[in-house]
Amino acid sequence: MTIKKAVIPAAGFGTRFLPASKAVPKELLPIVDKPTIQYIAEEAIDTGITQVILVTGREKGSIEDHFDISFELEHHLRSKGKDDLLKLVQGISEMVQIVSVRQKMPLGLGHAILCAKQIVGNHPFAVLLADDIVDADPPCLRQMIDVYNELGKGIVLAIKEVPRDEVYQYGIIDGEAVGDRLFRVASLVEKPPVEKAPSNLAVIGRYLLPPEIFEVLEELPPGKGGEIQLTDAIARLGESFPIYGYKFEGERYDAGDKMGFFVANVRFGLKHPELGPRISDFLLEVAEELKRSS
Ligand code: G1P
Repeated sequence: MTIKKAVIPAAGFGTRFLPASKAVPKELLPIVDKPTIQYIAEEAIDTGITQVILVTGREKGSIEDHFDISFELEHHLRSKGKDDLLKLVQGISEMVQIVSVRQKMPLGLGHAILCAKQIVGNHPFAVLLADDIVDADPPCLRQMIDVYNELGKGIVLAIKEVPRDEVYQYGIIDGEAVGDRLFRVASLVEKPPVEKAPSNLAVIGRYLLPPEIFEVLEELPPGKGGEIQLTDAIARLGESFPIYGYKFEGERYDAGDKMGFFVANVRFGLKHPELGPRISDFLLEVAEELKRSS
């Protein structure tokens, strides 16, 4: 059965992004001219996902508004004859069916996923983390679902090699290569110190999971940082389901980190159909200035 539902957790405080994220959800901070979460929703839609489940929290209502119809704005644009902008704004609200559910307490990523249990129901589903933007064609999630469909079952995680001094920021797998870009995962551990990391293959925020993950999450004690960790639940489910890591093709940006966010802005800016050439000229100018002054 192919995967049609995707959960996007967006309930976190965004502390890595303060002060920008104090009153604005970090998921709405724009990369060039589009909120980060829209890149994620578009990846899901381009993959063929038909229902997106947002897990939000307090002060995150504007994320739902972003994907909703904005009657006043549409009326305003129509009356001013701004048809291109009207189409753009309408397109966002027509993208996909979006359902949202609240995580009432910040108990961790695993707990956020558990909040989507009723809406996901008894089907395998995808999880996309809003911090991880992947620029890829075909989309990263599409690549993973193709692998999943070939395997026929199991858990598929997006993975990527990271520098060893960064392993403490990720879920890290212990795995053995079993095919082109494909690893069979023997175990995984959330944010290990470098000396305890089984490899430098990190889980990036894309997961394909069976509904049995919910039963595991319901019973799971808090893990790293006192939070209910998705990584721990997957490791436990690995006793009854095969886990695979897939080294996706594409460029990943950590949009939840100030530097990663800046890099993503430069890269997507350069690719932007209208702004790209001007941004490129501007960056060359800045590079010249820097060279002269160094
Ligand atoms: C989460 C997961 C971690 C994963 C990472 C990818 O951590 O818990 O296993 O490697 O996303 O971005 P976070 O970055 O939300 O702390």
